[in-house]
Amino acid sequence: MHLTWFGHACVLLSGTKKVLIDPFVDEGSIAGIDPDLVLVTHGHFDHLGETIHLKKPTVAIGELAHYLQAKGVPAEGMNIGGTLDICGVRVTMTQALHSSRIDDPAMTGSTGAAAGFVVRMDGVSVYHAGDTGLFSDMKLIGELYHPDVALLPIGGRYTMGTREAMMAAQFVGAKTVVPIHYNTWEKITADAGEFKMAIERTTDLTVKILQPGESLEIPSGA
Ligand code: NI
Ligand code: MN
Repeated sequence: MHLTWFGHACVLLSGTKKVLIDPFVDEGSIAGIDPDLVLVTHGHFDHLGETIHLKKPTVAIGELAHYLQAKGVPAEGMNIGGTLDICGVRVTMTQALHSSRIDDPAMTGSTGAAAGFVVRMDGVSVYHAGDTGLFSDMKLIGELYHPDVALLPIGGRYTMGTREAMMAAQFVGAKTVVPIHYNTWEKITADAGEFKMAIERTTDLTVKILQPGESLEIPSGA
C-alpha cells in the first residue's frame, strides 16, 4: 500500500482501492485523485474539504453522513467504536477529543462528534487520529487494531502538540508515525524535525516526515 500526504490532514491510501481521508488542501485541489472511498473525520472545513464536490462513496459519523446525503453525496453513516466493511476496505471509527461544526448557515442540527479512523486494506492497518487531544485509550487502538502506521496531529492549539503526540505515538505503538495537521497556518506551527528526533531517541519507533504530495510505501504484514 502507498500512503500519500497532501498536506494538513489529507491522506490517500492506495492499494486495491483508493481511500482518501479528509479531502482538504489549503492550496490547489485534489480533484484529480478519483478515490473509491472518502472518509471524513468531522465537519470542520479543513477536513470536510472537497467531500461534497467529489460525490464519492463517503463514510462519516451518522449526523455528518445525513448532512452529506442531503447534499447528494452517497454517504454511509457509522459511529465511534463501530466497524464497517465497504468497497473492500474495513473501516473502524475511533474516538477523538475534539469538536465539530459545519460551515453552512442552513445546517442547524447536530454535526455529530469528531472522530478518527482505522483503515485496514491489503493486510495493512493505518490509524488516522483526526483532530484530537491526547487520550490514553489510544493504547486500546494499538492493542485492538495493531496499526502499522499512525497519522498523528502535532500542530497544537486545536489538537495535540508535539509533546502530547510523542506519548500518543507510544500509546498506539505503530512502528511508523507520520505527523499531520501542522504548519498549514501560523497558528499550528510545529517542529516536525524535533518531534522525530525526540521519538527516535527514546523509542524504537520511526517518524516519517513527508512533504505535501510525498508518498510512503507500507509493506503488508509489516
Ligand atoms: Ni477540527
Ligand atoms: Mn482541523
